[in-house]
Amino acid sequence: MRKRFIQFGLLSGLLLQLCPASDEIQFNRDIRPILSDKCYFCHGPDEENRKADIRFDVREAALEVFQSGEFMHRIRATDRDEIMPPPKSNLKLTEKEKDLLERWIADGASYEEHWSFTLLPESVDVPEVEQTNWPKQTLDRFVLAGIEKAGEHPTGEAEPLRWLRRVSFDLTGLPPSQEEIEQFLAEVSVDRGKAYQSAVDRYLASDSFGEQMATGWLDLARYADSYGYQSDKLNTQWPWRDWVVAAFNKNLHPIQPEGRKRLDFFS
Ligand code: HEC
Repeated sequence: MRKRFIQFGLLSGLLLQLCPASDEIQFNRDIRPILSDKCYFCHGPDEENRKADIRFDVREAALEVFQSGEFMHRIRATDRDEIMPPPKSNLKLTEKEKDLLERWIADGASYEEHWSFTLLPESVDVPEVEQTNWPKQTLDRFVLAGIEKAGEHPTGEAEPLRWLRRVSFDLTGLPPSQEEIEQFLAEVSVDRGKAYQSAVDRYLASDSFGEQMATGWLDLARYADSYGYQSDKLNTQWPWRDWVVAAFNKNLHPIQPEGRKRLDFFS
């Protein structure tokens, strides 16, 4: 189960990076990042910072400016008093971004719900590849399809120990221990594929896996073990940290209701 969770993570990342092939504009992939980086600061959800009473994060609120042509007029403007984003913000749209926005508006300016609130698709089409003997498993076909599309070739396979080091850092944030190295090398000499599989299984089963996965989560939530001042006398935040770590180690899925309900967690 846990493995599947990781594969999904990898897969969606890869799909975002490697397969933006289709010409069709997708709001979440192509447009939201532009609006969010270059416009939301002054025309987004934050009411206090909102300028000209215009917001582009809500379609209905933006339609009039799209339809009147004012939006395109402002991003194509050359007059410093008119151009958006304003020069003094030090933000700038590239020509490619302007073209994307223009095409998107001409196509009807459709919005999508934020990807983090949408469920993953039940299944995803697996791309065709030319070097059919390179992929070892389905996920590899996505990687290879991206590599082939870029006109590149996969590099050679890493040596076992190098591989172990990478996997260890990826899954636990730590280098492999001496014991792990010895066990792995002994297993590799018998059956390489099996040795790789069991090394990954051991890392997924270790407590450090949850810590590694929780790190990004806690960073985003601006978690700290300390307030950084002498007011640190009373620390009550750590149970939440431990809860997040344990949630990953128990593979609780954030959008499954039991992920929220299970308070008997440390038992
Ligand atoms: C640093 C703040 C800031 C950023 C970033 C910014 N704007 Fe503006 N925007 C303003 C201000 C201030 C006004 C009102 C003054 C004016 O009309 O020039 C404005 C006005 C506008 C208007 C005219 C609205 C009307 O009333 O007709 C449009 C359209 C617009 N912005 C589009 C954008 C777009 C598109 C982006 C991103 C690519 C963007 N702005 C980024 C500050 C900003």
